[in-house]
Amino acid sequence: MKLSKDAATNRKFWDSFSDEYQGKHAQQLNRKDFVWGVWSLPESDINALGDVRGKQVLELGCGAAQLSIAIAEMGGYATALDNSEKQLEHAARLMAEAGHDFPLLHASADKIPAKKRSFDLVFCDHGAMTYAPTAPTLAEVHRVLKKNGLFVFNMQSPLHEICYDDKAGSVSNTLCKSYFDLDRFVEDKLVYFQYSYGEWVRHFREAGFNIIDLIELQPPEDAESSFDFAPLEWAQHFPCENIWVLQKAK
Ligand SMILES: C[S@@+](CC[C@H](N)C(=O)[O-])C[C@H]1O[C@@H](n2cnc3c(N)ncnc32)[C@H](O)[C@@H]1O
Repeated sequence: MKLSKDAATNRKFWDSFSDEYQGKHAQQLNRKDFVWGVWSLPESDINALGDVRGKQVLELGCGAAQLSIAIAEMGGYATALDNSEKQLEHAARLMAEAGHDFPLLHASADKIPAKKRSFDLVFCDHGAMTYAPTAPTLAEVHRVLKKNGLFVFNMQSPLHEICYDDKAGSVSNTLCKSYFDLDRFVEDKLVYFQYSYGEWVRHFREAGFNIIDLIELQPPEDAESSFDFAPLEWAQHFPCENIWVLQKAK
């Protein structure tokens, strides 16, 4: 399938960055329990996904599929999709090491190679909802979800984006960008998307989703991270990531 320009740009980026990314974060990412985000907060505390046992579950932008492996460990039927072939090579290796065998799909999330109403749950963690074109991706998720299916995704918060000081290369205690200018960003040959809360809500409603929850992640004081995303103190006072929980409305 023909890739959009943004998906092609991001494929090139992630294919070239994949080995370095997996090497740097292996210790944090390669675990069998399901944890969310840059502070590895356990799903068993957050309860965003619900009971996945016996459910058909699609991960969108799976990287090395550590979370899909966790879904399989929890008794779900995982399918893991990523736009980067390199990332999927790491996924195939980790899946074999973990003794699981589920489908790995090489595609962009705005063109999911699956039949309509195939999945009970679609999720991602700093995956396709950060990097893939928003409206077409939401339309695809809606198409492949079964009736009342859930779409649960974690990503950077709008607050983190507007407090991010591009010159210093770190998040600050100052509002650095216009909240109303959030949209599409290009940074270091990587395209990503972020919106104001109102814009997010309109995107979800237009795609046919109801909002069930918005979970703003707060790490505990002993949290550790191999990601240079925010100082722990910042993340303890302001949400640097949030999980949207959506349900297919019609
Ligand atoms: C930061 S990684 C997150 C993966 C995993 N959750 C982790 O923490 O390592 C982002 C992933 O999104 C994938 N991605 C980027 N654009 C995508 C798209 N258009 N469709 C599907 N996956 C995409 C990248 O290839 C990359 O593997």
